[in-house]
Amino acid sequence: MSNKDEKPEEQKESQSTWKDFVYNPRTGEFIGRTASSWALIFLFYLVFYGFLAGMFSLTMWVMLQTLDDHTPRYRDRVSNPGLVIRPKSLDIMFNRSDPLNYRQYVQHLQSFLQKYNDTVQEKNELCAVGEYYDQEGEEVKKVCQFKGSLLRQCSGVDDANFGYAEGKPCVLVKMNRIIGLKPRGDPQINCTVKGDRALQMDYFPNDRRFDKMYFPYYGKKAHENYVQPVVAVKLLLTKEDYNTELTVECKVEGCDLRNNDERDKFLGRVTFRVKVTE
Ligand SMILES: *[C@@H]1O[C@H](CO)[C@@H](O)[C@H](O)[C@H]1NC(C)=O
Ligand SMILES: *[C@@H]1O[C@H](CO)[C@@H](O)[C@H](O)[C@H]1NC(C)=O
Ligand SMILES: *[C@@H]1O[C@H](CO)[C@@H](O)[C@H](O)[C@H]1NC(C)=O
Repeated sequence: MSNKDEKPEEQKESQSTWKDFVYNPRTGEFIGRTASSWALIFLFYLVFYGFLAGMFSLTMWVMLQTLDDHTPRYRDRVSNPGLVIRPKSLDIMFNRSDPLNYRQYVQHLQSFLQKYNDTVQEKNELCAVGEYYDQEGEEVKKVCQFKGSLLRQCSGVDDANFGYAEGKPCVLVKMNRIIGLKPRGDPQINCTVKGDRALQMDYFPNDRRFDKMYFPYYGKKAHENYVQPVVAVKLLLTKEDYNTELTVECKVEGCDLRNNDERDKFLGRVTFRVKVTE
């Protein structure tokens, strides 16, 4: 059992090597290196990281020089807008006898249409119908007029309740903004009810078109106060349609915009449900 006697020796030794490792008084080393060695390491890393930071800033600066404030650089070759509705809900369900019940929809439409107010829109350009409004050279892009009163019964002027009180609700359909988009053809909104039901609908404006004059859009910064064209759809429900959930699909048709993508259900189309009770 000579091993037993050796153990304290070993312990002492390992303790002293550990201490020596942290600070060795004989060589003046601190954690295995002399002070000047440490200083060199710090200097090396300082220069190294300084160099990296410099490289990063330089490439970033060069990159930013090539960016344009007004248009994003990378875009899909053929951008396709999604279709959205206002009120911003895909389940429009309400009790037509209870104003509190549909108040949120009415308020939403009112606030959305504020920027389409005729008095506001009269300050904008009267553009040529059926023609793109190209303003490539201009620094500040002009905006084509879209008067809210074009939406007639869905404008909130004659009927402050947008048809919700009479159980014939208005839904506004618009396309998402896409910078530079110029749809070829004649974009129109066509809504249909799923299943074998028939439902009358009124469209405002009557031609249900998104006129070419509202394209192209130049982006938030260059094209301030731009208003998107909208098409209002008034669903002329009858008493027989009450208490039933109807599924309505609206599509943009008559142009080169896609509306039948398998994977993206909002590309060029939108589906929502409507249920009116009383
Ligand atoms: C709708 O609202 C009216 C008035 O508040 C109420 O009498 C009626 O029961 C409501 N209908 C339903 C289906 O909730
Ligand atoms: C447009 O704004 C004016 C003044 O702010 C207001 O009197 C008018 O009722 C508004 N019109 C619509 C349609 O909201
Ligand atoms: C709207 O779409 C339906 C179903 O696809 C079609 O039968 C109808 O002709 C279209 N209406 C118009 C005006 O394009």
